[in-house]
Amino acid sequence: MNFKQANRLENLHTSGTRVIMGKCIELESQGIEVTKLTLGEPDFNTPEYIVEACKKSLDAAQTRYTDGSGIPELKKAVCEKLEAENNLHYTPEEVTITTGVAQGMFLGILSTLNEGDEILIPDPVYLTYSEIPNIAGAVIKRYNLLEENNYQIDVDEVRSKITDKTKMLVIVSPSNPTGGVLDLESLEALADIAKENDLLILSDEIYDRFVYDDDQELISIASLPGMKERTIVLNGFSKSMAMTGWRLGYLCAPVNIIEPINRLSFYMTAGTTTFVQHAGVVGLREEDGSIQRMRDEFKKRRDYLVKEINQLRNFRCNNPEGAFYIFMNIKKTGMTSEEFCNYAIDKYRLALIPGSAFGEKGEGYARLSYASSMEVLEKAVSILKEMDKEF
Ligand SMILES: Cc1ncc(COP(=O)(O)O)c(C=O)c1O
Repeated sequence: MNFKQANRLENLHTSGTRVIMGKCIELESQGIEVTKLTLGEPDFNTPEYIVEACKKSLDAAQTRYTDGSGIPELKKAVCEKLEAENNLHYTPEEVTITTGVAQGMFLGILSTLNEGDEILIPDPVYLTYSEIPNIAGAVIKRYNLLEENNYQIDVDEVRSKITDKTKMLVIVSPSNPTGGVLDLESLEALADIAKENDLLILSDEIYDRFVYDDDQELISIASLPGMKERTIVLNGFSKSMAMTGWRLGYLCAPVNIIEPINRLSFYMTAGTTTFVQHAGVVGLREEDGSIQRMRDEFKKRRDYLVKEINQLRNFRCNNPEGAFYIFMNIKKTGMTSEEFCNYAIDKYRLALIPGSAFGEKGEGYARLSYASSMEVLEKAVSILKEMDKEF
């Protein structure tokens, strides 16, 4: 058959992380050990009380279709969580349960953008945001989040990127890949820009529970005056509850925005897995302290890596306030991000993600995930010390 993919997929690229990931698989299949700091996934198992809740749900035969937008108990539990932790006031009809934040991103973008509409995304950013708008035929523009600015926005630069075609602005805070958290000043400036230019905000808050310093508070832009009506909030269970494989997330938006989102979502999935949703209710309502323990452990690892990296001659990093990534500056090596990461894996069996996979402004950086055991991190540091002597 003379098959040709649909035209709408022409600008949908395979992830820029595939070279390094491919090398990891290849080496491991040969029995060679790789020190991997690549995965954006907690190295903890899902807390036992959530697993038990899922088993109970299966035993109770909660295995049938649900309302496409999610079971009422979970939507209610999400509202309670957002009220208690994020100062966000949503009602259950303003919540849709999604198959991970991955589906939330699709819904938020495909339900709102038309061909030719402009979407402003951060540079660097989690790479899905530079792919999905292409399916909608939207035009991607980027605003910079730079190390020298501690990954805060440059207000004038953002304003200069707005045209009469700009419809949506994406925020990911805490950020993948930089670990930066937008401060109140940046958020207020973005809120003003959004209101002045009648923009929608897509706010990805998946790392909201991983903000480490007592003086740093995570603020949702939707909690600022006049912003709920123009914001789509995305959040989920993958990171904060070590539930990546369960594929559970949620999207919140005012009723007029969520109505078309629910229509599209229904035709995509007809709802999220029923017993997973029931486990999610228990996950949100019945803490057993495991999330706090995971957070404390991540903080310990972050502090260790930041200290070690900044003692090296050729590498440095900011203190990332959130998520579980370090964006390490490698510019002194004289290599590009890709060259550096290829060199690290080929010679030292150390796997890192090239910063350039996340956008042009990620060139000169490598992303390290500290969602890996202390033992792995210590090995990685000893390799970085060796590498440091080479440049
Ligand atoms: C910023 C960001 N958003 C969304 C996702 C996808 O999350 P989920 O597993 O809920 O689909 C990730 C995963 O790495 C992420 O880093």
